[in-house]
Amino acid sequence: MGEKMEWKRAHDAFKSRWDRTDDVMCRHSMSFFLHKTIRSDFFASYLFLLERLPLVKLFTLTSEVINGEMQFYARAKRFYEEVPATEEGMMGDFLELNSIDVEASSMFLRKFVGGPGKAETKYALDCGCGIGRVTRHVLLPIFSSVDVVDMMDNFLYEALSYIGRDVKKVKDYFCCALQDFTPPIKKYDVIWIQWVTGHLTDKDLMGFLIKCKCSLKDDGVIIIKDNVGRHGCVLDQTDSSVIREIEILKHITAKSDLEIICAEKQLDIPEQFVPVWMMALK
Ligand SMILES: C[S@@+](CC[C@H](N)C(=O)[O-])C[C@H]1O[C@@H](n2cnc3c(N)ncnc32)[C@H](O)[C@@H]1O
Repeated sequence: MGEKMEWKRAHDAFKSRWDRTDDVMCRHSMSFFLHKTIRSDFFASYLFLLERLPLVKLFTLTSEVINGEMQFYARAKRFYEEVPATEEGMMGDFLELNSIDVEASSMFLRKFVGGPGKAETKYALDCGCGIGRVTRHVLLPIFSSVDVVDMMDNFLYEALSYIGRDVKKVKDYFCCALQDFTPPIKKYDVIWIQWVTGHLTDKDLMGFLIKCKCSLKDDGVIIIKDNVGRHGCVLDQTDSSVIREIEILKHITAKSDLEIICAEKQLDIPEQFVPVWMMALK
């Protein structure tokens, strides 16, 4: 089926749910352009997102570009400008989950490092590292060296003191948005990506994972740890992120030519929280 037919089908299927503004847009066939743009950015989450928000509103929250900045990213940046550079800030105020999270991450990580056919314990990369919570508690106890990357320079600055004793083992601090970042070729044994995949569009997450794969050493592994939606995908308008269903995440990782070698749900998370999953990819 031609792509145009596919947008037309989405356009027709969702017509009845659109508000008045959308109706006007439809009459002018503008919706084809909006559908096409959003679908190109969110090729896997698109229908779920469309199901929950009127097309025009969804466009302004995601794909719209103002002054050269895609609104999905501009909003996240504005959100993090107000987030304190503390453990609470990194945990979205759920500090009580910190030790549960760290313990489970360390156990999960040990399955894939240090042994025949496993990743070495020389060099790790912490993506969307914030103040370095994962680096300090999960990566530095295992790896000789760690690099960190985050888009917020104030978080990276705080990492210098927050990480403590082992800070000398942190080599490079990359201040860069992940969608614009290319990690060095074949450098890392483990690439850790926690609570940040939802801040990337499907297309940019796929592109980033492909670059991460090239950045792994031979037995290296990528670990994603993130919130996972119970039903479909939801756009969180507060911090401008997408909470994806596990099947959608799997679809994006498969498109990145990565194989999921292990996936585990984080235990002991109270029912009222969004489920958290850990996935190891090669
Ligand atoms: C919820 S915090 C998690 C921090 C850390 N991974 C942890 O688990 O403690 C999300 C982090 O991702 C960063 N971030 C959000 N969007 C990003 C992007 N597009 N590129 C790079 N970093 C981003 C934020 O600045 C913030 O430090």
